[in-house]
Amino acid sequence: SVKVETLILFGATGDLAHRMLFPSLYNLHMDGLLADTLTIIGSGRSPLERAAFQSQVREALGEHLTEDRIDAAMAESFLERIDYCPVDAGSGTGYDELAAMLGDRMTRPIGVYLSTPPSMFGPIAQGLAAANIACAECRIAMEKPIGHDLASSREVNAQVGDAFAEDRVFRIDHYLGKETVQNLLALRFANMLFEPLWNAQAIDHVQITVAETVGLEGRVSYYDGVGALRDMVQNHMLQLLAIIAMEPPASVSATAVRDEKVKLLRSLRKMRAEDVKSLSVKGQYTSGAVGGQAVAGYADELGKPSNTETFVALKAFIDNWRWKGVPFYLRTGKRMPQRQSEVLIQFKPVPHNIFARVGAPRLDPNVMIINLQPEENIRVKVMAKQPGLDRDGVRLKEVNLDVSLSHSFAGERRRIAYERLLLDFIEGDQTLFVRRDEVEAQWEWIDSIRNAWAAVDLAPQNYTAGSWGPSAAIALIERDGASWHD
Ligand code: BG6
Repeated sequence: SVKVETLILFGATGDLAHRMLFPSLYNLHMDGLLADTLTIIGSGRSPLERAAFQSQVREALGEHLTEDRIDAAMAESFLERIDYCPVDAGSGTGYDELAAMLGDRMTRPIGVYLSTPPSMFGPIAQGLAAANIACAECRIAMEKPIGHDLASSREVNAQVGDAFAEDRVFRIDHYLGKETVQNLLALRFANMLFEPLWNAQAIDHVQITVAETVGLEGRVSYYDGVGALRDMVQNHMLQLLAIIAMEPPASVSATAVRDEKVKLLRSLRKMRAEDVKSLSVKGQYTSGAVGGQAVAGYADELGKPSNTETFVALKAFIDNWRWKGVPFYLRTGKRMPQRQSEVLIQFKPVPHNIFARVGAPRLDPNVMIINLQPEENIRVKVMAKQPGLDRDGVRLKEVNLDVSLSHSFAGERRRIAYERLLLDFIEGDQTLFVRRDEVEAQWEWIDSIRNAWAAVDLAPQNYTAGSWGPSAAIALIERDGASWHD
Protein backbone atom coordinates (compact mmCIF):
# COMPACT_ATOMS: atom_id res chain seq x y z
CA SER A 1 0.00 0.00 0.00
CA VAL A 2 1.21 3.54 -0.69
CA LYS A 3 2.14 5.84 2.13
CA VAL A 4 0.05 8.83 3.02
CA GLU A 5 1.78 12.13 2.20
CA THR A 6 -0.66 14.38 4.03
CA LEU A 7 -2.34 13.59 7.29
CA ILE A 8 -5.44 15.66 8.05
CA LEU A 9 -6.55 15.52 11.64
CA PHE A 10 -10.12 16.51 12.43
CA GLY A 11 -10.64 17.28 16.10
CA ALA A 12 -7.05 18.52 16.27
CA THR A 13 -7.72 20.89 19.17
CA GLY A 14 -9.42 18.16 21.22
CA ASP A 15 -8.32 16.19 24.21
CA LEU A 16 -7.37 12.97 22.42
CA ALA A 17 -5.26 14.87 19.90
CA HIS A 18 -3.41 16.64 22.70
CA ARG A 19 -2.93 13.66 24.98
CA MET A 20 -2.28 10.90 22.47
CA LEU A 21 -2.20 11.75 18.77
CA PHE A 22 0.36 14.56 18.69
CA PRO A 23 2.66 12.94 21.25
CA SER A 24 2.50 9.72 19.20
CA LEU A 25 3.21 11.49 15.92
CA TYR A 26 6.07 13.32 17.59
CA ASN A 27 7.54 10.05 18.84
CA LEU A 28 7.38 8.60 15.34
CA HIS A 29 9.02 11.76 14.02
CA MET A 30 11.76 11.55 16.63
CA ASP A 31 12.44 7.91 15.75
CA GLY A 32 12.78 8.81 12.06
CA LEU A 33 9.71 6.80 11.10
CA LEU A 34 7.86 9.58 9.25
CA ALA A 35 8.88 10.50 5.70
CA ASP A 36 10.36 14.00 5.46
CA THR A 37 7.61 14.89 3.04
CA LEU A 38 4.74 14.04 5.42
CA THR A 39 2.64 17.11 6.22
CA ILE A 40 0.15 17.19 9.06
CA ILE A 41 -2.85 19.50 8.79
CA GLY A 42 -4.79 20.02 11.98
CA SER A 43 -8.41 20.96 11.67
CA GLY A 44 -11.07 22.08 14.10
CA ARG A 45 -13.84 24.58 14.39
CA SER A 46 -11.73 27.31 16.02
CA PRO A 47 -10.41 29.87 13.56
CA LEU A 48 -6.75 29.57 14.58
CA GLU A 49 -3.68 30.85 12.79
CA ARG A 50 -0.97 28.31 12.05
CA ALA A 51 1.36 29.75 14.70
CA ALA A 52 -1.33 29.68 17.38
CA PHE A 53 -2.11 26.07 16.59
CA GLN A 54 1.57 25.16 16.65
CA SER A 55 1.87 26.69 20.11
CA GLN A 56 -1.06 24.57 21.26
CA VAL A 57 0.70 21.46 20.00
CA ARG A 58 4.00 22.57 21.55
CA GLU A 59 2.25 22.94 24.88
CA ALA A 60 0.50 19.59 24.54
CA LEU A 61 3.84 17.89 23.87
CA GLY A 62 5.38 19.51 26.93
CA GLU A 63 2.53 18.26 29.03
CA HIS A 64 2.10 14.74 27.71
CA LEU A 65 5.47 13.44 26.53
CA THR A 66 7.47 11.32 28.89
CA GLU A 67 10.53 13.05 30.31
CA ASP A 68 13.03 11.08 28.21
CA ARG A 69 11.37 12.19 24.96
CA ILE A 70 11.35 15.94 25.58
CA ASP A 71 13.72 17.74 23.22
CA ALA A 72 13.02 21.35 22.26
CA ALA A 73 14.86 21.28 18.93
CA MET A 74 13.15 18.03 17.98
CA ALA A 75 9.77 19.55 18.86
CA GLU A 76 10.45 22.55 16.61
CA SER A 77 11.38 20.33 13.67
CA PHE A 78 8.18 18.35 14.26
CA LEU A 79 6.08 21.53 14.37
CA GLU A 80 7.41 22.54 10.96
CA ARG A 81 5.36 19.70 9.49
CA ILE A 82 2.20 21.11 10.97
CA ASP A 83 -0.35 23.47 9.47
CA TYR A 84 -3.91 24.32 10.47
CA CYS A 85 -7.13 24.81 8.55
CA PRO A 86 -10.45 25.57 10.29
CA VAL A 87 -13.35 23.47 9.04
CA ASP A 88 -16.82 23.57 10.48
CA ALA A 89 -17.95 20.08 9.69
CA GLY A 90 -21.47 20.78 10.91
CA SER A 91 -22.19 23.73 8.63
CA GLY A 92 -19.98 22.35 5.89
CA THR A 93 -17.75 25.41 5.64
CA GLY A 94 -13.99 25.27 5.26
CA TYR A 95 -13.61 22.32 2.86
CA ASP A 96 -12.76 24.60 -0.06
CA GLU A 97 -10.08 26.32 2.00
CA LEU A 98 -8.76 22.89 2.97
CA ALA A 99 -8.63 21.89 -0.70
CA ALA A 100 -6.80 25.14 -1.50
CA MET A 101 -4.28 24.46 1.27
CA LEU A 102 -3.71 20.95 -0.08
CA GLY A 103 -3.02 22.28 -3.58
CA ASP A 104 -0.97 19.69 -5.50
CA ARG A 105 -1.24 17.30 -2.61
CA MET A 106 -4.94 16.82 -3.41
CA THR A 107 -4.17 14.11 -5.93
CA ARG A 108 -1.52 12.44 -3.79
CA PRO A 109 -2.29 9.97 -0.96
CA ILE A 110 -4.09 11.62 1.96
CA GLY A 111 -4.99 10.15 5.34
CA VAL A 112 -7.90 11.73 7.16
CA TYR A 113 -8.10 10.99 10.86
CA LEU A 114 -11.40 11.68 12.61
CA SER A 115 -11.08 12.37 16.30
CA THR A 116 -14.45 14.15 16.46
CA PRO A 117 -17.83 13.28 17.92
CA PRO A 118 -19.08 10.28 15.94
CA SER A 119 -22.10 12.18 14.69
CA MET A 120 -19.62 14.06 12.50
CA PHE A 121 -18.09 10.99 10.79
CA GLY A 122 -20.70 10.77 8.02
CA PRO A 123 -20.91 14.52 7.36
CA ILE A 124 -17.11 14.90 7.26
CA ALA A 125 -16.66 11.96 4.88
CA GLN A 126 -19.28 13.46 2.61
CA GLY A 127 -17.91 17.00 2.90
CA LEU A 128 -14.49 15.67 1.90
CA ALA A 129 -15.90 13.77 -1.06
CA ALA A 130 -17.81 16.86 -2.25
CA ALA A 131 -14.56 18.86 -2.11
CA ASN A 132 -12.72 16.06 -3.95
CA ILE A 133 -10.57 15.19 -0.94
CA ALA A 134 -11.40 11.49 -1.16
CA CYS A 135 -9.40 10.35 -4.17
CA ALA A 136 -8.65 6.70 -4.79
CA GLU A 137 -5.45 7.04 -2.75
CA CYS A 138 -7.18 8.64 0.25
CA ARG A 139 -8.00 6.78 3.41
CA ILE A 140 -9.92 7.59 6.54
CA ALA A 141 -9.49 6.59 10.19
CA MET A 142 -12.26 6.85 12.78
CA GLU A 143 -12.27 6.68 16.55
CA LYS A 144 -14.94 4.78 18.42
CA PRO A 145 -17.86 4.71 18.90
CA ILE A 146 -19.20 3.89 15.47
CA GLY A 147 -22.86 4.52 16.26
CA HIS A 148 -24.68 3.67 19.46
CA ASP A 149 -26.35 0.46 18.28
CA LEU A 150 -26.42 -1.78 15.20
CA ALA A 151 -28.79 0.39 13.18
CA SER A 152 -26.89 3.62 13.79
CA SER A 153 -23.51 1.98 13.21
CA ARG A 154 -24.76 0.69 9.85
CA GLU A 155 -25.82 4.21 9.02
CA VAL A 156 -22.42 5.70 9.87
CA ASN A 157 -20.65 2.90 8.00
CA ALA A 158 -22.86 3.47 4.96
CA GLN A 159 -22.32 7.24 4.97
CA VAL A 160 -18.57 6.89 5.25
CA GLY A 161 -18.67 3.98 2.80
CA ASP A 162 -20.23 6.19 0.13
CA ALA A 163 -17.05 8.23 0.03
CA PHE A 164 -14.42 5.65 1.06
CA ALA A 165 -14.33 1.98 0.05
CA GLU A 166 -13.91 -0.49 2.94
CA ASP A 167 -10.26 -1.15 2.14
CA ARG A 168 -9.65 2.55 2.82
CA VAL A 169 -11.57 2.72 6.11
CA PHE A 170 -9.56 2.26 9.32
CA ARG A 171 -11.72 1.87 12.44
CA ILE A 172 -9.69 2.39 15.57
CA ASP A 173 -9.85 0.32 18.70
CA HIS A 174 -6.83 1.58 20.57
CA TYR A 175 -6.57 -1.72 22.50
CA LEU A 176 -5.35 -3.30 19.25
CA GLY A 177 -2.46 -0.86 19.27
CA LYS A 178 -1.30 -2.08 22.67
CA GLU A 179 1.81 -4.22 22.48
CA THR A 180 0.35 -6.52 25.12
CA VAL A 181 -2.78 -7.21 23.11
CA GLN A 182 -0.75 -8.03 20.01
CA ASN A 183 1.33 -10.29 22.18
CA LEU A 184 -1.72 -12.48 22.76
CA LEU A 185 -1.37 -13.53 19.13
CA ALA A 186 2.27 -14.42 19.69
CA LEU A 187 1.47 -16.32 22.86
CA ARG A 188 -1.24 -18.39 21.21
CA PHE A 189 0.22 -18.94 17.77
CA ALA A 190 4.00 -18.77 18.16
CA ASN A 191 4.05 -21.50 20.82
CA MET A 192 3.07 -25.13 20.68
CA LEU A 193 2.51 -25.26 24.40
CA PHE A 194 -0.92 -23.71 24.76
CA GLU A 195 -2.94 -24.14 21.60
CA PRO A 196 -3.64 -27.89 21.92
CA LEU A 197 -5.25 -27.16 25.30
CA TRP A 198 -7.09 -24.04 24.19
CA ASN A 199 -10.59 -25.50 24.12
CA ALA A 200 -13.52 -26.84 26.10
CA GLN A 201 -11.79 -30.17 26.81
CA ALA A 202 -9.10 -28.54 28.90
CA ILE A 203 -10.45 -25.13 29.88
CA ASP A 204 -13.02 -24.67 32.61
CA HIS A 205 -13.65 -20.95 32.11
CA VAL A 206 -12.06 -17.68 31.06
CA GLN A 207 -12.14 -14.33 32.87
CA ILE A 208 -11.45 -11.00 31.24
CA THR A 209 -11.17 -8.01 33.55
CA VAL A 210 -10.56 -4.40 32.57
CA ALA A 211 -10.61 -2.42 35.79
CA GLU A 212 -10.02 1.32 35.92
CA THR A 213 -9.51 3.62 38.89
CA VAL A 214 -10.70 6.74 37.06
CA GLY A 215 -14.26 8.00 37.28
CA LEU A 216 -16.12 10.26 34.89
CA GLU A 217 -13.02 12.37 34.10
CA GLY A 218 -15.14 15.33 33.04
CA ARG A 219 -16.65 13.35 30.18
CA VAL A 220 -20.22 13.79 31.43
CA SER A 221 -21.76 14.72 28.11
CA TYR A 222 -20.33 11.65 26.41
CA TYR A 223 -20.48 9.02 29.13
CA ASP A 224 -23.86 9.46 30.75
CA GLY A 225 -26.43 7.50 28.79
CA VAL A 226 -23.65 5.44 27.15
CA GLY A 227 -22.31 3.43 30.07
CA ALA A 228 -19.72 0.70 30.50
CA LEU A 229 -21.36 -1.85 28.20
CA ARG A 230 -21.12 0.41 25.18
CA ASP A 231 -18.00 2.32 26.24
CA MET A 232 -15.79 -0.69 27.00
CA VAL A 233 -17.43 -4.04 26.24
CA GLN A 234 -18.71 -3.29 22.73
CA ASN A 235 -15.20 -2.54 21.55
CA HIS A 236 -12.12 -3.21 23.69
CA MET A 237 -13.37 -6.22 25.62
CA LEU A 238 -14.91 -7.90 22.60
CA GLN A 239 -11.71 -7.41 20.64
CA LEU A 240 -9.78 -9.01 23.50
CA LEU A 241 -12.28 -11.85 23.62
CA ALA A 242 -12.10 -12.35 19.86
CA ILE A 243 -8.29 -12.55 19.90
CA ILE A 244 -8.29 -14.95 22.81
CA ALA A 245 -10.97 -17.24 21.45
CA MET A 246 -10.75 -17.12 17.64
CA GLU A 247 -9.53 -20.01 15.49
CA PRO A 248 -5.93 -19.76 14.27
CA PRO A 249 -5.76 -17.46 11.25
CA ALA A 250 -3.61 -18.73 8.37
CA SER A 251 -1.42 -15.63 8.51
CA VAL A 252 -1.33 -12.23 10.17
CA SER A 253 -2.75 -10.52 7.11
CA ALA A 254 -5.62 -8.11 7.71
CA THR A 255 -8.07 -10.39 5.95
CA ALA A 256 -7.02 -13.61 7.66
CA VAL A 257 -7.10 -12.16 11.18
CA ARG A 258 -10.30 -10.22 10.74
CA ASP A 259 -12.08 -13.16 9.10
CA GLU A 260 -11.41 -15.24 12.21
CA LYS A 261 -12.40 -12.49 14.62
CA VAL A 262 -15.71 -11.87 12.91
CA LYS A 263 -16.55 -15.59 12.92
CA LEU A 264 -15.94 -15.68 16.63
CA LEU A 265 -17.96 -12.52 17.31
CA ARG A 266 -20.88 -13.96 15.40
CA SER A 267 -20.80 -17.09 17.57
CA LEU A 268 -21.49 -15.16 20.77
CA ARG A 269 -24.77 -16.35 22.24
CA LYS A 270 -27.34 -13.55 22.26
CA MET A 271 -28.89 -12.67 25.58
CA ARG A 272 -32.57 -13.36 26.23
CA ALA A 273 -34.69 -11.47 28.74
CA GLU A 274 -35.09 -14.58 30.90
CA ASP A 275 -31.30 -14.88 31.24
CA VAL A 276 -30.55 -11.31 32.31
CA LYS A 277 -30.30 -12.06 36.03
CA SER A 278 -28.12 -15.14 35.67
CA LEU A 279 -25.84 -13.69 32.98
CA SER A 280 -25.38 -10.03 33.78
CA VAL A 281 -24.90 -7.42 36.48
CA LYS A 282 -24.92 -3.65 36.11
CA GLY A 283 -23.34 -1.39 38.70
CA GLN A 284 -22.88 2.28 39.49
CA TYR A 285 -20.34 3.60 41.97
CA THR A 286 -21.26 5.58 45.05
CA SER A 287 -18.79 7.69 47.02
CA GLY A 288 -15.82 5.89 48.48
CA ALA A 289 -12.04 5.89 48.34
CA VAL A 290 -9.68 4.82 45.58
CA GLY A 291 -5.99 4.51 46.36
CA GLY A 292 -6.50 6.25 49.70
CA GLN A 293 -8.27 9.23 48.07
CA ALA A 294 -11.89 10.04 48.84
CA VAL A 295 -13.95 10.27 45.66
CA ALA A 296 -17.54 11.28 44.93
CA GLY A 297 -20.19 8.92 43.65
CA TYR A 298 -21.21 8.88 39.99
CA ALA A 299 -24.56 10.59 40.56
CA ASP A 300 -22.88 13.30 42.68
CA GLU A 301 -20.30 13.92 39.97
CA LEU A 302 -23.11 14.11 37.48
CA GLY A 303 -25.29 16.29 39.67
CA LYS A 304 -28.38 14.14 39.21
CA PRO A 305 -29.51 10.54 39.56
CA SER A 306 -28.78 8.36 36.54
CA ASN A 307 -29.40 4.86 35.30
CA THR A 308 -26.07 4.66 33.49
CA GLU A 309 -23.88 1.73 34.48
CA THR A 310 -20.24 2.40 35.35
CA PHE A 311 -19.63 -1.31 35.87
CA VAL A 312 -20.79 -4.38 34.06
CA ALA A 313 -20.19 -8.09 34.59
CA LEU A 314 -21.30 -10.66 32.04
CA LYS A 315 -21.22 -14.38 31.62
CA ALA A 316 -20.91 -15.05 27.91
CA PHE A 317 -20.96 -18.22 25.84
CA ILE A 318 -19.47 -18.89 22.45
CA ASP A 319 -21.60 -21.34 20.54
CA ASN A 320 -19.07 -23.29 18.51
CA TRP A 321 -17.19 -26.60 18.75
CA ARG A 322 -14.13 -25.26 20.48
CA TRP A 323 -15.90 -23.43 23.29
CA LYS A 324 -19.01 -25.50 23.89
CA GLY A 325 -20.17 -24.87 27.47
CA VAL A 326 -17.15 -22.76 28.53
CA PRO A 327 -18.23 -19.57 30.31
CA PHE A 328 -16.36 -16.36 29.51
CA TYR A 329 -16.78 -13.99 32.44
CA LEU A 330 -16.25 -10.38 31.47
CA ARG A 331 -16.14 -7.43 33.81
CA THR A 332 -15.16 -3.82 33.53
CA GLY A 333 -15.71 -0.85 35.77
CA LYS A 334 -14.70 2.65 36.75
CA ARG A 335 -13.50 3.44 40.29
CA MET A 336 -12.19 -0.06 40.94
CA PRO A 337 -9.46 -0.56 43.56
CA GLN A 338 -6.69 -0.68 40.94
CA ARG A 339 -6.00 -0.27 37.26
CA GLN A 340 -5.69 -3.79 36.02
CA SER A 341 -6.43 -5.50 32.73
CA GLU A 342 -6.00 -9.21 32.66
CA VAL A 343 -7.11 -12.44 31.09
CA LEU A 344 -7.36 -15.54 33.22
CA ILE A 345 -7.58 -19.03 31.79
CA GLN A 346 -8.79 -21.55 34.34
CA PHE A 347 -7.92 -25.08 33.30
CA LYS A 348 -9.87 -28.17 34.33
CA PRO A 349 -8.62 -30.54 37.01
CA VAL A 350 -6.52 -33.52 35.94
CA PRO A 351 -8.77 -36.50 35.06
CA HIS A 352 -7.50 -38.64 37.92
CA ASN A 353 -5.51 -37.70 40.99
CA ILE A 354 -2.86 -40.35 41.52
CA PHE A 355 -1.72 -38.66 44.73
CA ALA A 356 -5.08 -38.78 46.49
CA ARG A 357 -4.33 -41.89 48.55
CA VAL A 358 -0.92 -40.73 49.68
CA GLY A 359 -1.91 -37.52 51.33
CA ALA A 360 -2.70 -35.02 48.60
CA PRO A 361 -6.47 -35.17 48.36
CA ARG A 362 -6.82 -32.03 46.27
CA LEU A 363 -4.90 -30.82 43.25
CA ASP A 364 -5.39 -27.18 42.29
CA PRO A 365 -6.14 -27.02 38.58
CA ASN A 366 -3.70 -25.00 36.47
CA VAL A 367 -4.37 -21.33 35.95
CA MET A 368 -2.81 -19.01 33.42
CA ILE A 369 -2.99 -15.28 34.11
CA ILE A 370 -2.08 -12.86 31.38
CA ASN A 371 -1.61 -9.35 32.73
CA LEU A 372 -2.06 -6.76 30.03
CA GLN A 373 -1.70 -3.54 32.03
CA PRO A 374 -0.26 -1.80 33.89
CA GLU A 375 2.38 -4.55 34.05
CA GLU A 376 2.81 -7.09 31.31
CA ASN A 377 3.45 -10.53 32.58
CA ILE A 378 2.27 -14.07 32.20
CA ARG A 379 1.96 -16.44 35.10
CA VAL A 380 1.08 -20.11 35.01
CA LYS A 381 0.25 -21.83 38.26
CA VAL A 382 1.45 -25.40 38.32
CA MET A 383 1.53 -28.10 41.01
CA ALA A 384 4.92 -29.17 42.31
CA LYS A 385 6.10 -31.62 44.93
CA GLN A 386 7.34 -30.08 48.12
CA PRO A 387 10.85 -31.29 48.96
CA GLY A 388 10.89 -34.03 51.62
CA LEU A 389 10.98 -37.74 52.24
CA ASP A 390 7.21 -38.10 52.07
CA ARG A 391 6.93 -40.29 55.20
CA ASP A 392 3.46 -38.78 55.86
CA GLY A 393 2.40 -38.77 52.24
CA VAL A 394 3.29 -36.63 49.27
CA ARG A 395 2.90 -32.92 49.79
CA LEU A 396 2.12 -30.88 46.72
CA LYS A 397 2.08 -27.14 46.39
CA GLU A 398 1.08 -24.62 43.77
CA VAL A 399 4.06 -22.72 42.34
CA ASN A 400 4.28 -20.01 39.70
CA LEU A 401 5.94 -20.09 36.32
CA ASP A 402 6.47 -16.38 35.77
CA VAL A 403 7.35 -14.48 32.65
CA SER A 404 7.79 -10.76 32.99
CA LEU A 405 7.80 -9.21 29.56
CA SER A 406 8.93 -5.83 30.82
CA HIS A 407 12.04 -7.54 32.22
CA SER A 408 12.64 -9.73 29.17
CA PHE A 409 12.51 -6.68 26.92
CA ALA A 410 13.85 -4.14 29.38
CA GLY A 411 15.74 -2.09 26.76
CA GLU A 412 12.66 -1.38 24.65
CA ARG A 413 10.76 1.88 25.01
CA ARG A 414 7.11 1.32 25.83
CA ARG A 415 5.24 2.98 23.04
CA ILE A 416 1.85 4.65 23.13
CA ALA A 417 -0.72 2.39 21.41
CA TYR A 418 -1.44 5.19 18.96
CA GLU A 419 2.13 5.21 17.63
CA ARG A 420 1.62 1.80 16.10
CA LEU A 421 -1.87 2.60 14.87
CA LEU A 422 -0.91 5.93 13.30
CA LEU A 423 2.07 4.37 11.56
CA ASP A 424 -0.01 1.48 10.22
CA PHE A 425 -2.61 3.97 9.06
CA ILE A 426 -0.02 6.10 7.27
CA GLU A 427 1.41 2.97 5.65
CA GLY A 428 -1.98 1.43 4.85
CA ASP A 429 -1.92 -1.78 6.92
CA GLN A 430 -5.43 -2.63 8.16
CA THR A 431 -4.59 -5.66 10.33
CA LEU A 432 -4.99 -3.80 13.62
CA PHE A 433 -8.13 -1.94 12.57
CA VAL A 434 -11.68 -3.14 12.94
CA ARG A 435 -13.56 -4.14 9.81
CA ARG A 436 -17.15 -3.11 9.20
CA ASP A 437 -18.56 -6.61 9.71
CA GLU A 438 -16.71 -6.90 13.04
CA VAL A 439 -18.15 -3.67 14.41
CA GLU A 440 -21.58 -4.72 13.31
CA ALA A 441 -21.27 -8.18 14.86
CA GLN A 442 -20.12 -6.51 18.10
CA TRP A 443 -23.18 -4.27 18.08
CA GLU A 444 -25.49 -7.15 17.35
CA TRP A 445 -24.43 -8.89 20.53
CA ILE A 446 -24.49 -5.68 22.58
CA ASP A 447 -27.96 -4.84 21.28
CA SER A 448 -29.21 -8.25 22.44
CA ILE A 449 -27.98 -7.42 25.94
CA ARG A 450 -29.44 -3.93 25.94
CA ASN A 451 -32.78 -5.18 24.68
CA ALA A 452 -32.87 -7.90 27.31
CA TRP A 453 -31.98 -5.34 30.00
CA ALA A 454 -34.72 -3.03 28.76
CA ALA A 455 -37.26 -5.87 28.73
CA VAL A 456 -36.75 -6.50 32.45
CA ASP A 457 -35.97 -2.88 33.31
CA LEU A 458 -32.61 -3.75 34.83
CA ALA A 459 -31.28 -0.97 37.06
CA PRO A 460 -27.64 -0.62 38.12
CA GLN A 461 -26.79 -1.81 41.62
CA ASN A 462 -24.64 0.41 43.77
CA TYR A 463 -21.04 -0.35 44.60
CA THR A 464 -18.71 1.68 46.73
CA ALA A 465 -15.98 3.44 44.78
CA GLY A 466 -12.79 1.51 45.39
CA SER A 467 -14.52 -1.90 45.55
CA TRP A 468 -14.68 -4.63 42.90
CA GLY A 469 -18.28 -3.87 41.95
CA PRO A 470 -21.68 -4.87 43.36
CA SER A 471 -21.92 -8.09 45.35
CA ALA A 472 -24.15 -9.52 42.64
CA ALA A 473 -21.09 -9.54 40.36
CA ILE A 474 -19.30 -11.77 42.83
CA ALA A 475 -22.34 -14.02 43.04
CA LEU A 476 -22.49 -14.20 39.23
CA ILE A 477 -19.30 -16.26 39.13
CA GLU A 478 -19.45 -17.89 42.58
CA ARG A 479 -22.73 -19.59 41.70
CA ASP A 480 -20.65 -21.61 39.25
CA GLY A 481 -18.10 -22.58 41.88
CA ALA A 482 -15.45 -20.15 40.62
CA SER A 483 -14.28 -16.75 41.80
CA TRP A 484 -12.88 -13.58 40.29
CA HIS A 485 -9.15 -13.19 40.44
CA ASP A 486 -8.50 -9.92 42.25
C1 BG6 B 1 -11.74 4.42 26.17
C2 BG6 B 1 -12.97 4.62 27.00
O1 BG6 B 1 -12.09 3.87 24.93
O2 BG6 B 1 -10.85 3.54 26.84
C3 BG6 B 1 -12.61 5.17 28.36
O3 BG6 B 1 -13.87 5.52 26.34
C4 BG6 B 1 -11.56 4.31 29.02
O4 BG6 B 1 -13.77 5.28 29.18
C5 BG6 B 1 -10.39 4.04 28.08
O5 BG6 B 1 -11.10 4.98 30.19
C6 BG6 B 1 -9.44 3.02 28.68
O6 BG6 B 1 -8.26 2.95 27.91
P1 BG6 B 1 -6.88 2.50 28.56
O7 BG6 B 1 -5.92 2.49 27.40
O8 BG6 B 1 -6.55 3.53 29.60
O9 BG6 B 1 -7.08 1.16 29.15
